[in-house]
Amino acid sequence: MAGVEGRVAIVTGSGGGLGRQHALLFAQRGAKVVVNDLGGSRDGTGAGSEMADQVVTEIIDAGGEAVANYDNVATPDGGEAIVQSAVDAFGTVDIVVNNAGILRDVTFHKMDDAQWDAVVKVHLYGTYHVTRAAWPLLREKSYGRVVVTTSTSGLYGNFGQSNYGAAKMGVVGLINTLALEGRKYNVTANAIAPIAATRMTEDIMPTEMLSALDPAYVSPLVVHLASEECTDSGEVILAGGGNYARVHYMQAKGAQFAEVPSPDDIAAQWSTIMDMDGAQLGRPLSG
Ligand code: NAI
Repeated sequence: MAGVEGRVAIVTGSGGGLGRQHALLFAQRGAKVVVNDLGGSRDGTGAGSEMADQVVTEIIDAGGEAVANYDNVATPDGGEAIVQSAVDAFGTVDIVVNNAGILRDVTFHKMDDAQWDAVVKVHLYGTYHVTRAAWPLLREKSYGRVVVTTSTSGLYGNFGQSNYGAAKMGVVGLINTLALEGRKYNVTANAIAPIAATRMTEDIMPTEMLSALDPAYVSPLVVHLASEECTDSGEVILAGGGNYARVHYMQAKGAQFAEVPSPDDIAAQWSTIMDMDGAQLGRPLSG
């Protein structure tokens, strides 16, 4: 049984969509949940308490434990306040699921600074602020499970989502290092790359595809990654419509030069540099 019973879990952006499913499943499995949601619209404008409150009511009605929090993940104060609400309500924090997100889709050619900043602030800075505020507590208690939410738009690219893709790849860079730094404190950090029918994807995918992508499929993976039994760290797992698959960089055998090569030497060896036959999982230089 995925061990999250009695654990304190923060799920950001859990007033709807994927986050709501994660929060409901954590509560069902006996975790105490901070349901954080700013309550705004898909592009991050607006705010309200209703979304988070509704999920808390659902959890409590089903016999679980949860509190609502309406702070903004995109600011340092917001991150602190979210973690503080876990401490105030439940005394500590064990699990941080960074799920809150917005979209401002536009081709790079037309991107303005406001569109870039808004998306990077919520996804990358938001993940940083909440995780940063929780990190000392996790380290001190020698227990922690951090989950971040990436996307195929970051891993592989998606037309019109350069701001979103950059932020989503940023959180993968973050967990790669958190996995190394958290290891001796029993703090893991992993990423999920979900694919689900939510308000974020309702006009992006065709209806028949969306009908197969119930967000509930993604949450068991999140609860597993957040459980005591799962000690894997620094992993990226894709999940959608019942399919779950590890994603990892592969490093080719490559070409080795004894001396600094010329650009022409590189060109001459290009097919060897690019050849993925015999490629292995990429590994950090240290740690
Ligand atoms: P959603 O729009 O239903 O959920 C996002 C939630 O985050 C909303 O409830 C929103 O109010 C909240 N939120 C937004 N900004 C916030 C802030 N600054 N502070 C606190 N809460 C905030 O969308 P969905 O699909 O459930 O997205 C959840 C996560 O999954 C996001 O990070 C998204 O980028 C990611 N994702 C979703 C995919 C999908 O297929 N639905 C694909 C890849 C990634």
